[in-house]
Amino acid sequence: MPRPPDPAAIAELKAAVGAGGWLESPADIAPYVEDFRKLYRGATPLVLLPRSLAEAATILAVCNRRAIAVVPQGGNTGYCGAATPDESGTQVVVAMQRMKRVREVDPENYSMIVEAGCTLRAAQDAAQAAGRLFPLSLGSEGTAQIGGNLATNAGGTAVLRYGMMRDLTLGLEVVLADGRVLPALQKLRKDNTGYDLKSLFIGSEGTLGLITAAALKLFPLPTDTATALVGVESPRQALALLLRLRDAFADQITSFELMPRLAVELTVRHIDGVANPLSEDDPWFVLVEIAAADGAGRASAQLTDALAAAAAEGGVRSALIASSLAQSDAIWKLRESVPAAQRLHGASLKHDLSVPISAVPRLIELGTALVERIAPDGQTIAYGHVGDGNLHFNVSQRAGADRDAFLARQPALEEAMFDLALRLGGSFSAEHGIGKLKAAEFARRADPVELGLMHDLKRVFDPKGILNPGKVLA
Ligand code: MLT
Ligand code: ZN
Repeated sequence: MPRPPDPAAIAELKAAVGAGGWLESPADIAPYVEDFRKLYRGATPLVLLPRSLAEAATILAVCNRRAIAVVPQGGNTGYCGAATPDESGTQVVVAMQRMKRVREVDPENYSMIVEAGCTLRAAQDAAQAAGRLFPLSLGSEGTAQIGGNLATNAGGTAVLRYGMMRDLTLGLEVVLADGRVLPALQKLRKDNTGYDLKSLFIGSEGTLGLITAAALKLFPLPTDTATALVGVESPRQALALLLRLRDAFADQITSFELMPRLAVELTVRHIDGVANPLSEDDPWFVLVEIAAADGAGRASAQLTDALAAAAAEGGVRSALIASSLAQSDAIWKLRESVPAAQRLHGASLKHDLSVPISAVPRLIELGTALVERIAPDGQTIAYGHVGDGNLHFNVSQRAGADRDAFLARQPALEEAMFDLALRLGGSFSAEHGIGKLKAAEFARRADPVELGLMHDLKRVFDPKGILNPGKVLA
């Protein structure tokens, strides 16, 4: 069992990182002990900020020898509390922000090596400066760090074309619980030498090792991009449009995001500089992006033709194809501001669900009926990455509703929503992870064989249980 660090342990940990490498005053550590959604506030005697692999390795060696629990933290933008220490005040936080170097961009091999504390945006920018694309894209990319993206196997808005973080990873450098380093930073596309160990750390939310750097896949930089906002009648029509566009554009479709009218209304109301360029009567909106790398400049015209053909058959109510970068940015801002608008609007209950893409309309129909029955003081705002089957089935408190009474619906609604997603062949944790928030639910719902193997793996990788206790595996 992990123990609270005594003064000698604190001194040893401070010595491992040197001056400027740790924080301990309540004001300095405050941002590190609360999660982004303010669901959890924990305590810690020490936040450690390693600058190098050697420092990170020493921290874990000391913590393992002394049985001190370690909570790894990246940009602290996660939704499930995986990066927040518990309330005991015994867990040290290891924040990766000073390990942020881009060690290498290799355009010939379409790869880059970045450290865990590099923000996603800095990684994207470094790739772009070398004429390449690192395609992971999320609303929080200016703050979220590569290490956290890996630890949660982040998804975002381009999964349809490029996959999730796991699909974008070639190799990893990981400090193991006892301070040994797993040097698996290879840039190979093919490597069948034994088990794929790196994959185990991706999505493990800091419970199996501390990721310090990654070799990531790069892609050709699109030279011709077209973005459109499309008004449709229903999720079924959106799905039909997706299938039609996939026929027309194959894997050139990078994003296909669905928003209900209410999401658009709230975003226009709460976020400065956001407007709805289409009719307020459209019940559903789709953001479509296609990207080509051939530089032929045909993307916009082709998307216009495809949407016109869909409209002629009654599959599209209205559409705006961006005619400038500013217009395309404005459409993206509308989509990416939905979570912020929901936060400003009031309390919300969130469900990060995925189903086979064909079941998305059914999920929306049946899920909305559940909200009406179980949480009538809430309004469904089911939006998200329909192109890959992931819906953020969120529910916002209605104006004038009692906040506490609304929030008290959470257990019953969540139970019903998770049952529904599973019944439709889906998952109750699509892209936001398990963390602390869903650990008990995961323990209850997971297949016993699968869960047993996970606990076995945890014992192999972390025999003293020092790595992010209480997260993922309750
Ligand atoms: C998004 O796609 O906007 C976020 O992952 C979801 C959310 O904030 O619920
Ligand atoms: Zn999302």
